[in-house]
Amino acid sequence: MGSAAATTAATTAAVAPTPVDDLATQTSTLAVQEEATKEDVAPHRSHDPTNNMKRSDPFQFGSRFLEQDDDVFEFNAWDHVETDDAYKEYSEQQFALQRQSPVSDFDKYRFNSDPAKWWNLFYKNNTANFFKNRKWLQQEFAILGEVTKEDAGPKIILEVGAGAGNTAFPILANNKNPKLKIHACDFSKKAVEVIRNHEAYNPESIQADVWDAASEELPPGLGESSVDVVVMVFIFSALSPRQWKQAVLNIHRVLKPGGEVCFRDYGRGDLTQVRFKKGRYLEENFYIRGDGTRVYFFEKDELAQIWSSGGVSSSEAMNDKPEEEQKPGEGEASEQTTPSTAVESESAALFDIEELGVDRRMLVNRALKLKMYRCWIQGRFRKK
Ligand SMILES: C[S@@+](CC[C@H](N)C(=O)[O-])C[C@H]1O[C@@H](n2cnc3c(N)ncnc32)[C@H](O)[C@@H]1O
Repeated sequence: MGSAAATTAATTAAVAPTPVDDLATQTSTLAVQEEATKEDVAPHRSHDPTNNMKRSDPFQFGSRFLEQDDDVFEFNAWDHVETDDAYKEYSEQQFALQRQSPVSDFDKYRFNSDPAKWWNLFYKNNTANFFKNRKWLQQEFAILGEVTKEDAGPKIILEVGAGAGNTAFPILANNKNPKLKIHACDFSKKAVEVIRNHEAYNPESIQADVWDAASEELPPGLGESSVDVVVMVFIFSALSPRQWKQAVLNIHRVLKPGGEVCFRDYGRGDLTQVRFKKGRYLEENFYIRGDGTRVYFFEKDELAQIWSSGGVSSSEAMNDKPEEEQKPGEGEASEQTTPSTAVESESAALFDIEELGVDRRMLVNRALKLKMYRCWIQGRFRKK
């Protein structure tokens, strides 16, 4: 390993693995952006205040560009950064090590057979404040601004995997539309309890329900083609590849034609993926966190395929049993195969990919001169 790679390794080892640290880090990125406004402004582009927008609230993603003459360690965070070769090399080494020590069959069954149980535990152990409120959503997804306008008329938003309500409540707080209703669904009973106990919970404007996005039913109280906007923030990554197709079909069913999905999730090569240690690898790009919750890291093309044409896992294509039903030792094939393969016969176009972008950020520890790469994928999909 080269010295830069060693530095990256030191970086990844130094950050304590917490269940959804990626979310926490994302929040702290915003905090450090604000801190950076106190820096002197240098003449080149990345220091140009018109580019940086560090004081906007909510913060604007993707506004800090690293250019050739910049000192990487001058600010705490840079946007749209490509990973350097040392990090790529280090990542590949880590992935190889992870593959060598996968989760045991016994544990695969334990974690896959009842994923909601592990999220219930998560919400039992963490407060509603664990996830920071996602104020930036309305800025990133214009449709959320439109449906919350005073005269927008009757509109329904479905949030899938709503967790503690950190997306739903900020939308509600900005809402001026008396005819807006948010359905906040999660398959964790505990998460739904947290939302229902929130001080701003009012069944006239927000309804929280238990719903498994990968089940064969639609969310309580919602019929076919009834929803205007679906919001999915860091939930698709919690599904196993064998659940993607059903979830996409459910979203397709529940949305009105022309309805929009606002999507954000983890991208392949994110720091949190790279630093997974032994015994966390379930299958390619899919891991089990220390608290028993699962997380997948997506490629952009893979997501485009899944949403546009109902791409499905290869094991499903081979008619494997869903892993939730597999006993230890079954379903080995899924580990040997690439998760996302479109099945042409079923791939009637579902969604138009209106937008899909990779949000790469480099976080910098200026004191230790360390670089850490984060990677998220954000998109908008429209029901045909
Ligand atoms: C990383 S958290 C994100 C929570 C929330 N979207 C946010 O950004 O604050 C993932 C959420 O997805 C939920 N989840 C996982 N699998 C699900 C499924 N099959 N159906 C519905 N919700 C699910 C979990 O319970 C958890 O609340």
